[in-house]
Amino acid sequence: MLSLSPRELLTTTRAVRKRLDLTRPVERIVIEECITIAQQAPNASNRQNWHFVVVDDPDKKAKLAELFCKGWEMYVNRPTAAGNLEFDDPKRKATQLKVMSSAQYLKEHIKDVPIHVIPCIATRTDLGQSVAAQSAAWGTIGPAVWSFMLAARLYGLGTTWTSFHLLFEEEAAAILEIPYKEVMQAALIPVAYTLGTEFKPAPREPIQRMMHWNRW
Ligand SMILES: Cc1cc2nc3c(=O)[nH]c(=O)nc-3n(C[C@H](O)[C@H](O)[C@H](O)COP(=O)(O)O)c2cc1C
Repeated sequence: MLSLSPRELLTTTRAVRKRLDLTRPVERIVIEECITIAQQAPNASNRQNWHFVVVDDPDKKAKLAELFCKGWEMYVNRPTAAGNLEFDDPKRKATQLKVMSSAQYLKEHIKDVPIHVIPCIATRTDLGQSVAAQSAAWGTIGPAVWSFMLAARLYGLGTTWTSFHLLFEEEAAAILEIPYKEVMQAALIPVAYTLGTEFKPAPREPIQRMMHWNRW
């Protein structure tokens, strides 16, 4: 396990794409340990209705990779794609272009990442639910996934929250035999050991831009 302070862990758990070691296998026991940690996350009504589908079968990863690449193609020309966003600050624009290049690298190598983790929640939020119900679902799966990603970092693993394959969620459900009508996939998290373990905090906006005391 890496020896990181809580602050280091929370500020250096990055979206890792180009620094994934595609050649080193990831032991199942390590993934199980990360999921055990993730299970300690808060969850609405203590229902614990999260699931983690862990994929190390090369054929299934290749099929998921096809959906991921199709999703990427749909995303890349959208105005909201990272590289297409406009910023006054040229540094911010440069960062977005780096994110795009990194995401493209991941797209090209996704099938070779040793493990794909598909976090799921046993409910759906795409059927006109109230914001409260949506909050319960996403507020349950989100923290568990982030805990998984933090735990993975402690074990020297790199992860990225990705959502491209969800544009074809039902097809992914068929590949993995997930009961689509009752269970919603939240992401596809590629998992691999990182090349080197040193990561830095990322540049972020000044907190004054997003913090509001007492009123908006
Ligand atoms: C909800 C969500 C969806 C994301 N989807 C993708 C994705 O489909 N592909 C990808 O490469 N990264 C994806 N990311 C990762 C972000 O691009 C990344 O977190 C962001 O660029 C900031 O990088 P950092 O976490 O290293 O600071 C996603 C992150 C979140 C939280």
